[in-house]
Amino acid sequence: MCGIVGYVGEQQAAPILLEGLSKLEYRGYDSAGIAVYSDGALNVAKTRGRLQALADMTGGGAKIQGTMGIGHTRWATHGEPSDINSHPHVSSSGRFAVVHNGIIENYIPLKKKLMEKGFEFVSETDTEVVAHLFEYYYDGDMVDALIKVIQRVDGSYALGILSADDPDRFVAVRKSSPMIIGLGEHENFIASDVTAILKHTRNIYYLEDDEIVVLSKDDVKIYNIDKEEVQKKVFTVNWDISAAEKGGYEHFMMKEIEEQPKALRDTINPRIQDGKIVLDSVSLTEEDIRSLNRIHIVACGSAYHVGVVGKYIIEKLTRIPVEVEVASEFRYHDPIIDEHDLTIIISQSGETADTFAALKEAKSKNSRILSIVNVVGSTIANASDDILYTWAGPEIAVATTKAYSTQLSMIYMIALYMADKISMVSKAEYAQIVHEILAIPEKVEEILKHKEQIQFLASQFYNSKSIFFIGRNLDYAVSLEGSLKLKEISYIHSEAYAAGELKHGTISLIEEGTLVIALATGSELFDKTISNVKEVKARGAVVLGVTTEDREHVEDVCDYVIRIPKTHEILLPSLSVVPLQLFGYYVASLKGCDIDKPRNLAKSVTVE
Ligand code: AGP
Repeated sequence: MCGIVGYVGEQQAAPILLEGLSKLEYRGYDSAGIAVYSDGALNVAKTRGRLQALADMTGGGAKIQGTMGIGHTRWATHGEPSDINSHPHVSSSGRFAVVHNGIIENYIPLKKKLMEKGFEFVSETDTEVVAHLFEYYYDGDMVDALIKVIQRVDGSYALGILSADDPDRFVAVRKSSPMIIGLGEHENFIASDVTAILKHTRNIYYLEDDEIVVLSKDDVKIYNIDKEEVQKKVFTVNWDISAAEKGGYEHFMMKEIEEQPKALRDTINPRIQDGKIVLDSVSLTEEDIRSLNRIHIVACGSAYHVGVVGKYIIEKLTRIPVEVEVASEFRYHDPIIDEHDLTIIISQSGETADTFAALKEAKSKNSRILSIVNVVGSTIANASDDILYTWAGPEIAVATTKAYSTQLSMIYMIALYMADKISMVSKAEYAQIVHEILAIPEKVEEILKHKEQIQFLASQFYNSKSIFFIGRNLDYAVSLEGSLKLKEISYIHSEAYAAGELKHGTISLIEEGTLVIALATGSELFDKTISNVKEVKARGAVVLGVTTEDREHVEDVCDYVIRIPKTHEILLPSLSVVPLQLFGYYVASLKGCDIDKPRNLAKSVTVE
């Protein structure tokens, strides 16, 4: 998604903007630009292409003087990637420059009305409407003008606005799109994400929707839509900067795959004290849980795949019915849900538009909202009744790995916590599962020690045209994630199928040499999955089996076998997913793909 950075202080703004934007490249973009205040005018430089093109155009920022400015990396929604559609957008008079992340849903009628009033548009974007509308309302006070603008526009926005009339301050506001305020010494910042400004300050404000911010180098004021000043609590970010850097790895994705044991320990260990799961931030009582009719798990992409695992595990342990659904479907079919339902929202970024919209839909029907989120203070976190943070640290690669894994661990803990509250699990099984949850990180480390085996297998198959993943129950749920990982970074077509479903159509696609990755880690359905392996083998498939270290004779059936350590049955997804992450990574690496920033994708999809 788009990235925004803004600066006002005593240093030259342009180099700071460029450096901040470089930390947001992971969000995905196709053009970039900056605007800097200089002697009563706005100096704008913007271009299609990578950030380097903008740096080349501006001499690394040296050619643009001034100590206050805004910057933007654009992920095109309205209007193709082009110089003219790049941000910042400037009003007709050239007095105002705007950067925007989100979508102005009513931009067409607004554009028509502004054109009737004589405003001339040069781009195809929705954002340009904001630049002209701000000018239309401006009468000397930027806060007044911005309040009128946000009262007229519908949709989502994180906006930074610079005025040639004001040498000392600029304004910003957000709604549904992320924005944080960085608080420095004689300098202040706006940014879409903490990573853009972590080099300069660790003290930040998280903004609520429609809070208007006025930033100068020595002051930050925040107002609500009634222009009443709002006092905010300062958050101090405790990441180390290296967490948001590659640290010697070729790609963030491999760094984050390798960080999984640490991310899991950081997420699990604080929640298990003296053998008991302690979820302090969750206020579900035994009575609350017993009164639940149904649990809905709603998310997108990999987070949805965690939800598929969650359905199996929560139902198995608590016997409470669970529905799992992608957010973009859930929000539009008038879901049957009420105060007797719990909705579990899963989101790494906490900013996914469809997922946030689903949260609001469930909340509007009085469902209790429990969210699993990786970004503190994110939109989804702030809107939830109960919030469980995964402590995975910043995840930069577009393809999620450590966040997915920590979400899985959180699902296990929630399921066991609820089952224990309503006495659905024996003390012995509870203790065994807790013991095995604590052992997951070291078992992941064990798998990572043999990653070269996966690299070899990838070298056999990276030219495949289509790859199938099959499994049953939890193995099917992990197949979904393995297939997505491969697709999104290697661009190889892939499908995940419930192994028992193949014979109902898809098996017709299997031909000589088709690679089928068969997950057969669960003991209960192992024999049935092996039967499915034989079915595809009989039709020419090459089969890569993933199974546990104790399984015998798998080599008699599969062409290749990857073995993972044993663990409790419900925890196997945490282990079986790791070879699939590595497989996708190595295939994409062998294909020379842009692993951390795959084409067409963004780390956080803050538009519908
Ligand atoms: C996962 O590798 C993808 N990048 C994508 O499917 C992602 O999981 C999805 O967009 C949800 O993002 P979220 O967890 O930030 O809500």
